[in-house]
Amino acid sequence: MLYNGAEYDPGFRAGGPLPYEGRSHLLCIFTVIYTSMARILVTGGAGFIASDLALKLASDPANEVVVVDNLLTGDAVKVKSPPMANLHFIKCDVNRFEDISSVFFAYRPEFVFHYAAVVGVKRTTDNPVMVLRDIDGIRNVLDLSKNTGVKRVLFSSSSEVYGEPVEIPQNELTTPLNSKVPYAIVKNIGEAFLRSYHREYGLEYTIFRFFNTYGPKQSRDFVVSKFLRAAMAGEDITLYGDGSQTRTFCYIDDNLDACLTAFHEGRVINDVVNIGSDKEISIKALAELIIELTNSRSRIVHLPPLEEGDMTRRMPDVTRMNQLLGREPLPLREGLLRIIAGVQR
Ligand SMILES: NC(=O)c1ccc[n+]([C@@H]2O[C@H](COP(=O)([O-])OP(=O)(O)OC[C@H]3O[C@@H](n4cnc5c(N)ncnc54)[C@H](O)[C@@H]3O)[C@@H](O)[C@H]2O)c1
Repeated sequence: MLYNGAEYDPGFRAGGPLPYEGRSHLLCIFTVIYTSMARILVTGGAGFIASDLALKLASDPANEVVVVDNLLTGDAVKVKSPPMANLHFIKCDVNRFEDISSVFFAYRPEFVFHYAAVVGVKRTTDNPVMVLRDIDGIRNVLDLSKNTGVKRVLFSSSSEVYGEPVEIPQNELTTPLNSKVPYAIVKNIGEAFLRSYHREYGLEYTIFRFFNTYGPKQSRDFVVSKFLRAAMAGEDITLYGDGSQTRTFCYIDDNLDACLTAFHEGRVINDVVNIGSDKEISIKALAELIIELTNSRSRIVHLPPLEEGDMTRRMPDVTRMNQLLGREPLPLREGLLRIIAGVQR
C-alpha cells in the first residue's frame, strides 16, 4: 500500500527488521524522517473545530493526518482547500464498524482525536435516537484504538455533561455531573468508556469538556454564527425566551492552542480539562453586541423558551485550561471583530 508516497509497512512499527538496512544513505535519511512522523486520526474532521485542528496538525510536516467525517454537518472543503500532501480526507461514518475499522487498519493511527458527534441543540433534541447511536462510534474508536496500539485518544466531551448547574464555576473534579438529555448522556458515557478502557486495557486518554466555542468556520445553526449572519443581512435576531440565559464564548484559537498544548506536551493524560471561557454574557447582550459591531439595523425578536436542553447558566472553572494556554484568552469583542473582518474581506 502506498502511504504518503512511501511503501507503508505496518510490520516495521511492530518491531520488524529495519526497512533501511543495507540501503542508500539518502534512503536511510528519508526513511528515518518518514518513520518519525506521527500518524493522527481526526474524526469529525470536516466540522468546525476539528477541521481547524486537523489543519494545524498537518501544518507540521512531521505529522500524517487522516480526517474522517460522514458530512452530517461537516463540509470536506474545510480541510481540502488548500490541499495538503500530509492531510487525507475519507468520507466515513465512525458509528459503522466496517467503515471506521478499515481506516484504522489502513492508516494505523498512533493518536486519535475523536470529535465526531451529532451536534446542535435543535438537531439533538429532534433526533435523540441518532444522537444515542454515537455511543457505537465511541465504542468503535476505543476498541480499534486498544487493538491497534493507539497511544492516546483525545475526546471532545461537552459542558452539557454538567447539566443544570449546581455550582458556578463548574469544576472538572468537584462539580457533579447532572446530564439528562441524550446528547449530554452520550458525552458522559463516552467519558466513562475512556476511563474504563484505561483501567482495563491501559489505553491512555484525554477528555476535553468544550464549552461554547465560536469562530469563522462554525456552521450556521449556532448562536454566534446565527446572530452574525442575521445581523449582517439586516434580518431579525431571534432568541429563545427572554434571552437572560447566560453563556461563555471561547474563540477557536484558544480552544486549539490549549488542546494542542495538552497533546504536544503530554499533559492532561488520563484526566479531564474544561475548555472554554469564564466571561459570562447573556444571550440578549450577545445579540446587542453583534448588532453594535456589525452596525446592523436588525431587531431582536423573542421566541418561546426551548422545552429542554437550554441551560439557564453555565461557566467553566478554567484554572486548568489557563495553565495549558499560558496567555490571555481572546476577548469576545475581538473574536467577533475577527470573524466580521473575515466575512467582509
Ligand atoms: N462547538 C462547540 O461549542 C462545542 C461545545 C461542546 C462540545 N463540542 C463537541 O466538539 C466536537 C466538534 O463540534 P463542532 O462544533 O465542530 O461541530 P460540527 O458539527 O462542526 O462537527 C462535528 C462533525 O462530526 C461529523 N460527524 C457527525 N457524526 C459523525 C459520524 N457518525 N461519523 C463521522 N463523522 C460524523 C459531522 O459531519 C461534523 O463534521 C463535537 O464532538 C461536539 O459535541 C462542541
